[in-house]
Amino acid sequence: MKKLIQDLEEKRLALQADLDSKKTQAERNRLGQFATPTNLATEILEYARTLLQEKEKVNFLDPAIGTGAFYSALRRVFPDRRIAEALGFEVDRHYEEPANQLWAKTSLRIKLADFTKEEPSPRFNLIICNPPYVRHHHLHNGNKLRLQSQTYQACGVKFSGLAGLYCHFLGLSHAWMTDGGIAGWLIPSEFMDVNYGRAVKHYLLEKVTLLHIHRFDPSDVQFSDALVSSAIVWFRKSIPPRDHFVEFSLGGTLLAPRETREVPVSALIHESKWTRFPVSDVRTKAATPVLSDFFKIKRGLATGDNDFFILNAEEIKERKLPTEVFRPILPSPRYLPTNEVAADSKGLPQLDRQLFLLDTHLTEEEIKRRFPSLYSYLQEGKSKKVNERYLCNHREIWYSQENRPPAPIVCTYLGRGDTKSGRPFRFILNRSNATVANVYLAMYPTDVLQNAMRADPGLLHRIWEVLNEITPGELLGEGRVYGGGLHKLEPKELANVDATAIAKLIPEFEAVGSSKQLGLFVESKLPANNAFNTDAPKRRAG
Ligand SMILES: C[S@@+](CC[C@H](N)C(=O)[O-])C[C@H]1O[C@@H](n2cnc3c(N)ncnc32)[C@H](O)[C@@H]1O
Repeated sequence: MKKLIQDLEEKRLALQADLDSKKTQAERNRLGQFATPTNLATEILEYARTLLQEKEKVNFLDPAIGTGAFYSALRRVFPDRRIAEALGFEVDRHYEEPANQLWAKTSLRIKLADFTKEEPSPRFNLIICNPPYVRHHHLHNGNKLRLQSQTYQACGVKFSGLAGLYCHFLGLSHAWMTDGGIAGWLIPSEFMDVNYGRAVKHYLLEKVTLLHIHRFDPSDVQFSDALVSSAIVWFRKSIPPRDHFVEFSLGGTLLAPRETREVPVSALIHESKWTRFPVSDVRTKAATPVLSDFFKIKRGLATGDNDFFILNAEEIKERKLPTEVFRPILPSPRYLPTNEVAADSKGLPQLDRQLFLLDTHLTEEEIKRRFPSLYSYLQEGKSKKVNERYLCNHREIWYSQENRPPAPIVCTYLGRGDTKSGRPFRFILNRSNATVANVYLAMYPTDVLQNAMRADPGLLHRIWEVLNEITPGELLGEGRVYGGGLHKLEPKELANVDATAIAKLIPEFEAVGSSKQLGLFVESKLPANNAFNTDAPKRRAG
């Protein structure tokens, strides 16, 4: 029998490749048609076997079966006598018909149907699914409302309008499971961090017993043709016991992960970024200082059109533009050979590539009168429709920039985890007066830090060193991971990074223990107008 299944698996793989090749990428994206590789499917079923009782009969359901990668693995991993029933749904005849032919002589029944519209029957104790990854904006409005309402009926949780189809598959399946049944979902790990994932997490923590979430290493993309970073979520349909712990694992394989950590449900309830685990430990909110205790973090400037607004010294000279309407701006990180930007006596960055940002609040009338060369440069911009671009068009003065004073530390926030240094993000000590564009996050010392810096001039340098020592894991625990290993940190995420090591450099902070208390204590001593106050009114530059 095993030989027969092995042969069928080989035929299935050939069939899958043939059927996929007859569709365009766009067609496959529309229905989330990306098959699970055989090795992974086998591993998933092997893991499922460890979660079921030794002799328990299996009623198997795959709500999005495709050509049947999981059924095939079920047959390889479980003895035939244990399989009581196997059912799959497939909405696309292109896959359903040939798959039904392939499995005709087996126990598998494939129904041509939209799973989300089927009447549930709660008789399955093993649901394994790689659901279609269809994003919410491809769900039509009526369909979205129907899904939200049906998912609510099925699992008792209302999913966000931003939830993708895969979330609804998961919620709807609740009504197909026996009490005590097991489910294993191969889904994008995105839900662990983003807002729309909150309802999914609520479901996983309150309606079922979440057992294990394994994430693949984001640089090891599981599906060559769909760039997603995937997770496998395992749960049992039962109310979670008190003091329940969930296993989080990362990298390696599902059965032999590189890293694991047991996290109590009580901590998961309060944690918005589940991808922090297993690398980071649970944090106790009140006691742990975070970067926002020491830095106010803002994204760099979105100029509206870098080519128009950012010029080099030669261009400014050639066009005879007035230097007073320009201020220095750092070039993109690839032009910074080291993580420290020195300044000359005028505060200009000592770099080969020196750039300047056009930023003035003078009206066009004043500019016409005082700086004719600048006026004609602006007219040139208008003829290229720079003033009509979204950002420029939404400003009071189309060529004036947001207020972003130079920040003493800036951070690159888009990076790959697999760079040679192993550091996807760089913290740059900026000794110059240069501002930054939105390829950086600007870090402005809070009052607490400014006060401490006044007392200890070497402090910022030491903090910068500590920042560059934060392990990528600690930083990435806060950031988003895209398929292919691309990482991104939003200002809020950077703000939330553990800053215990920085707190240790600031005796007052340690003594008081809470940034809020210290903040009040320090603020009363500081002049209202300080160099890093980014909320100060815009400079009327000229
Ligand atoms: C990500 S693939 C997984 C296929 C297979 N289970 C595997 O792991 O290789 C998702 C499958 O679900 C099917 N599908 C998409 N929407 C569906 C729906 N509403 N109901 C049932 N199947 C659907 C797609 O046609 C596709 O074959």
